[in-house]
Amino acid sequence: MYVGAQSGIYAVLLFVYLSTHIRAQTVAMEDVGYFWHVADFHYDYQYSMRGDPTYYCHYWNETTAKDLGYYGDYECDSPMSLVVSAVQAMKANKPDVDFIVWTGDDAPHVPDAMVGEELMIEIIANLTQVITDIFPDTRVYPAIANHDYDPSNQLPVQTSRQYNAIADAWSGWLNHDSDAVASLRKAAYYTTVMENDVRLIVPNTNLYYTSNKVTAGMPDPAGQFDWMENTLEEAKRNNQLVWILAHIPPGHPERSHSSPWFYEEFNERYIDIISQYADIIIGQFYAHHHTDHFKVLYNDNGEPISSMLLAPAVVPWRNKYVYNAEFGANNPAVRLFKYQRSTGKLLDIMQYIMNLSEANQNNSPEWVLEYTATEAYSIDDVTTESLHELAESFKPENSENFEKYNLYCSASYDVTPCDETCKQMQMCAITNIRVSDYDACMESTTSASSRASFNTITLFITSFWFVVTIS
Ligand SMILES: *[C@@H]1O[C@H](CO)[C@@H](O)[C@H](O)[C@H]1NC(C)=O
Ligand SMILES: *[C@@H]1O[C@H](CO)[C@@H](O)[C@H](O)[C@H]1NC(C)=O
Ligand SMILES: *[C@@H]1O[C@H](CO)[C@@H](O)[C@H](O)[C@H]1NC(C)=O
Repeated sequence: MYVGAQSGIYAVLLFVYLSTHIRAQTVAMEDVGYFWHVADFHYDYQYSMRGDPTYYCHYWNETTAKDLGYYGDYECDSPMSLVVSAVQAMKANKPDVDFIVWTGDDAPHVPDAMVGEELMIEIIANLTQVITDIFPDTRVYPAIANHDYDPSNQLPVQTSRQYNAIADAWSGWLNHDSDAVASLRKAAYYTTVMENDVRLIVPNTNLYYTSNKVTAGMPDPAGQFDWMENTLEEAKRNNQLVWILAHIPPGHPERSHSSPWFYEEFNERYIDIISQYADIIIGQFYAHHHTDHFKVLYNDNGEPISSMLLAPAVVPWRNKYVYNAEFGANNPAVRLFKYQRSTGKLLDIMQYIMNLSEANQNNSPEWVLEYTATEAYSIDDVTTESLHELAESFKPENSENFEKYNLYCSASYDVTPCDETCKQMQMCAITNIRVSDYDACMESTTSASSRASFNTITLFITSFWFVVTIS
């Protein structure tokens, strides 16, 4: 009896060891590739080191002038020195990437009257040039954002002078695919097949943004939902895997109790489409929040089926509309992805940040590795399954993983602990992308402990794995 039980335990140990070992199986070296994700430059050419932080850090007069940093200020948008420093940091830390993804928001958070169409076109062309100058031989896959248009947020559903100008600016990167460039001209969305045969779909999600008055009430702005469905259907027929790249994600911000970014009917339709093709969508990249955040999409049975990775911003600009507004800024950040070339599987994230106050003090822009996702969080990779496990690991009170996530969320700017309300907003935004789910989660008093039973199982397996590994 005793011996039987013991060998049973050994069998289980062996099984756990083998399954963990096989799961963590290494990818052949020549199959490992890297790419950068950079987002939200929000370049302001009027940033002044004698600016007024209450006036966009623009110079007003000598009375309101402050001594501001050369690399920017937590209250404001980015000077060119910060933009250039970010792209140079990418080059210095990993020059030989396969490509770069760039999810937009180039213009400053200033009234439209201070920008205008001409200047908007110039800003986008200039930032395109900065990246091209520093990475002359690297392909960039760009996505348009709500601050890449004048008037801001009002992206139209048909071709325009600005869409054409953007297509002109980006055509150097997409010149191998004339359909992609033509599609950009039409409504600023496109699809293209990457070198490894993964299909990249880049929707113009700004058409769904609640701040876009042009598209309100339209059944399918620019026919983009139809186009997404057709493109995904074709990918499925051709056995292609898909990555989605866009500026604004569906779902809700995580640092406030908010309505979703998209009009509700657009949010639900978008999620319906993602859900329908979740089996071929193996990567989704967004930005817009300025924070380091992710979302896991569940089906009706509560199983994780897809996930979204949101890159933090280069711009440090303080968001005044968040729960902990005093800490609503972030350190400038750029993120490096490690992936499996042959399958497009996402293996890891290396998050780089610049400590803005230190850079200004020392007059030297130090970019450092903030964390490596698999090491910091003890996860195997950054696939949906692992991100689901990560979200589960956040649930217990005093979860170490959650505390790390909460710090990284602002690129290590906000060091205050996340209280109960803060954690509820975070958890609900991470695991509930549909509006009714999110609302129910925010109303619930026990949101942090929902799916608790699953969490216990995960914890049990994790600790068991730990015991096996260290013994
Ligand atoms: C500077 O601007 C402030 C705010 O508008 C104003 O109150 C002040 O009188 C101005 N000072 C000078 C010297 O113009
Ligand atoms: C864009 O670049 C041109 C050429 O370097 C420069 O003259 C212009 O001032 C720049 N525009 C902005 C908004 O920075
Ligand atoms: C950034 O630098 C400031 C000033 O030296 C320091 O107080 C802060 O802890 C640093 N933050 C990080 C994340 O290193």
